[in-house]
Amino acid sequence: MISEKVKNMAPSGIREFFDLVLEMKDVISLGVGEPDFVAPWRIREKAITCLEDGFTSYTSNRGLLRLRMEVSSFLKKKYGLNYRPESEILITVGVSQGLDLAVRAIVNPGDKIIIVRPCYVSYPAVVELAGGKSLFLDTKAEENFKINLSRLSSLLKQKPKAIILNYPCNPTGVSYTKRELAEIWKVLSRAGVIVISDEIYDQLSFDFPHTPFPALPLAKGKTVYLGGFSKNYAMTGFRVGYACADKKIIEAMTKIHSYVMLCAPIISQFAAVEALSNSRDVNYMFREYRRRRNFVVEGLNSLNLPTIVPQGAFYCFSSIAGARFKSSLEFAKALLFKEKVAVVPGSAFGDKYGKFVRISFAQDIGLLKEALSRIGRFVRSRL
Ligand SMILES: Cc1ncc(COP(=O)(O)O)c(C=O)c1O
Repeated sequence: MISEKVKNMAPSGIREFFDLVLEMKDVISLGVGEPDFVAPWRIREKAITCLEDGFTSYTSNRGLLRLRMEVSSFLKKKYGLNYRPESEILITVGVSQGLDLAVRAIVNPGDKIIIVRPCYVSYPAVVELAGGKSLFLDTKAEENFKINLSRLSSLLKQKPKAIILNYPCNPTGVSYTKRELAEIWKVLSRAGVIVISDEIYDQLSFDFPHTPFPALPLAKGKTVYLGGFSKNYAMTGFRVGYACADKKIIEAMTKIHSYVMLCAPIISQFAAVEALSNSRDVNYMFREYRRRRNFVVEGLNSLNLPTIVPQGAFYCFSSIAGARFKSSLEFAKALLFKEKVAVVPGSAFGDKYGKFVRISFAQDIGLLKEALSRIGRFVRSRL
C-alpha cells in the first residue's frame, strides 16, 4: 500500500528511543527541541480575543497582509532587510513548512542539495521527498563544527542547485559572525547556488549580533530566508513562520502552499502579529537561556563530556568519546534507564556523530542542576 519512496526512507533514528522515554515516569527530559516557557500571556490573550471576535476563517494564501507588513517592518528595523509584504513574504505553517515549500519549489528530480551536518533531522527527508539528492558536508568537532570552506568548494564541483544553512544551529549551537558568513558567501556566490537559510533561532544568538544571510551584499536575490515564532517566542504549538525571497520563488512556493495547505491558521497569524509588537519577553527568555547555557556548558566540560560553547539556540552537542559506550544510542538508553535523564543520541543528526549527544538547556535551571548531577554520577560509573 505504501509508496516506494516512503518505504525506503530511513525511519527517524530516535523515534524508538523517545517512545521509551514516553513510557517512563519522572524522567528529566533534555531531549526536546522546544522552549520550556509557555508563550507569553499577551500572545495567548490575542489568540483568545481573536476567537471571541469570530476570526475563524481562512486567510489569503500568502497570509494576513497585516502580518506580512509586520514581518517586513520587523526585518527592516532589526536587520535593515527590505522585503515587500505583497510579493516577497509568505506566511507558512512553521519553518518546517517553509523549508518543505522552498525545496519543492526549486528542486527538479535528481537535483543536488548540500546539507551541512550535523543537521536538523528534517532536512534529508525533505530533500528526498522532493526528489532531490542530498550532498552532505560534515563539520568536525576539531573545527568547532564550522563549515570548512575548502570541503565546501569541493562539493560545489558536483553542481548542486542549493544549500541548506542553519545558524544558530540545531544541534551544535554554532553560529557565524558577519565576516565568517561573507567568506562562505564568497564561495557560494561563485557557484551560483540558491541558499535556503533556516534562521529560526535568530533571536537566540548569545555572543555576537546575528547576521541574516540575505543581509550580505548581493545575497538577497539568491536566498530563501526562513524565520519563525516557535523558538524565539515559545510558540511551537501555534505552527506559524515566514519565508522571504525573490518574488518568483515566493510565487512558486505560494502555488504549492495554496494547493496543499491553503493558509496558516488565522488565530496563529493574529498571535504572531502580537508577538512581533514587543520584544520584552524575548529579551527575558534570551537572558535566561544564556545563563543556563553558561551553567550547563561548564558543568558538562567538568564532567569530561567535552562541549564547545554554543553561540546560539538552546543545545549543547557533547562528546561522549571518553565514556565507554559503543554508540550514542547506547549511552542515551543507559542514561535513561539508570538515571532517568533523556538526551538525544548524536547519530540522529548524521551517521558520523555516534560519539555525541544533544543536550537541550531549554529546561528549568533547578532541573538542569539535578540532571547534571545525575549525568555526573552516570559518567563516573563508566570511566
Ligand atoms: C533548525 C530548525 N528548523 C526548523 C524547526 C521547526 O520549526 P517550526 O516549529 O517553525 O516548524 C526546528 C525545530 O526544532 C529546528 O530546530
